[in-house]
Amino acid sequence: MNEIWTEKYRPRTLDDVVGQKHVSERLKAYVASRNMPHLMFTGPAGTGKTTCSLALAKEMFGGEWRGNFIELNASDERGIDVVRGKIKEFARTAPLGGAEFKIIFMDEADALTSDAQAALRRTMEKYSSICRFILSCNYSSKIIDPIQSRCAVFRFKPLSAEDVEAYLRKIVAQENIQIDDDAMKGLVMVARGDMRRAVNSLQVAASLGKKIDLDLIYQTIGMANPEIVKNILETALGGNFVKARDTLENVMIEYGLSGQDIIRQIHSTFFDLSLSDSEKVRLVDKTGEIEFRIVEGSNERIQLEALLAYLVMIGGNRRRRRSNALRILGSILSEASSRTSRDEHSSRTSLSLWSSLS
Ligand SMILES: Nc1ncnc2c1ncn2[C@@H]1O[C@H](COP(=O)(O)OP(=O)(O)O)[C@@H](O)[C@H]1O
Ligand SMILES: [Mg+2]
Repeated sequence: MNEIWTEKYRPRTLDDVVGQKHVSERLKAYVASRNMPHLMFTGPAGTGKTTCSLALAKEMFGGEWRGNFIELNASDERGIDVVRGKIKEFARTAPLGGAEFKIIFMDEADALTSDAQAALRRTMEKYSSICRFILSCNYSSKIIDPIQSRCAVFRFKPLSAEDVEAYLRKIVAQENIQIDDDAMKGLVMVARGDMRRAVNSLQVAASLGKKIDLDLIYQTIGMANPEIVKNILETALGGNFVKARDTLENVMIEYGLSGQDIIRQIHSTFFDLSLSDSEKVRLVDKTGEIEFRIVEGSNERIQLEALLAYLVMIGGNRRRRRSNALRILGSILSEASSRTSRDEHSSRTSLSLWSSLS
């Protein structure tokens, strides 16, 4: 009942892995030939690197897979020597069930310094007659060339929104959950192709309420509803500082957000506001400064209020410019109409400008 869904619903076979067809097809060919080179899996978190390694081992070794597969973390805080010790221990015994080799899955290989990678490379050489390595990392560029050139490299892509949604819908059906369409959309959006994140957020939301709506999703992931954030910024731009400040405070309490959480969200909301490019640039600059101050430990409430005040000022300039423009147009118009139809063209232009501004 308390099972973690990312484990419960982890695909067991290569065929069940979602997306990544370019990877799973080639891995299936290794299974068919009962052999494989060293592999390197690169790509963002939650896209199936560990899952594919486990499925590959199961299909390659069948019932004996546990004896022929070991999962190590390269960034083991006890150091590369501990990792090498474990590899030595594992490689000491022959593969089970008549297999030709064992598989060593090494997670976070890109966390190793280049000296540690050089040591890893020597270890790979030493045991390559009996072990195949699968190195998993986020960025292949952080892996030294001599290791890269010994591996077949597989690039995992962020999963598509359709794939994430289809996968979540299966879980929703099996777990008997009720979820709104826009809550589902929100989940998929914030996961940004990371299936682990999507499944974890769904599980947390499901533990909070039987019926999942968008607001619950945002509470789960520690984010305010973007519509509300946008609204706060627009209120400040419209000149209502007190209302903007009070709403912001309520939102932070309701969603349990820190100053840093909310400022990140404010920052990504600027681009949804109808502001000129130069206004956006000024706001981003100011937000960077304020974020820095909050990180450095300055009072976050004062800093957030300063940002809202800045928005009020930008909105104020905007309103002043607009009323100046309106005033000038007004005088052009009245002059033009006094000249009657002599200058009908200019009066028409002014009229259309007037209506677009008011
Ligand atoms: N391609 C995928 N297809 C289906 N589920 C996936 C996929 N990638 C990740 N998942 C889900 O996310 C969890 C974490 O995936 P994992 O393979 O450990 O990611 P990583 O790429 O970080 O190693 C899995 O248990 C599974 O539930
Ligand atoms: Mg992993």
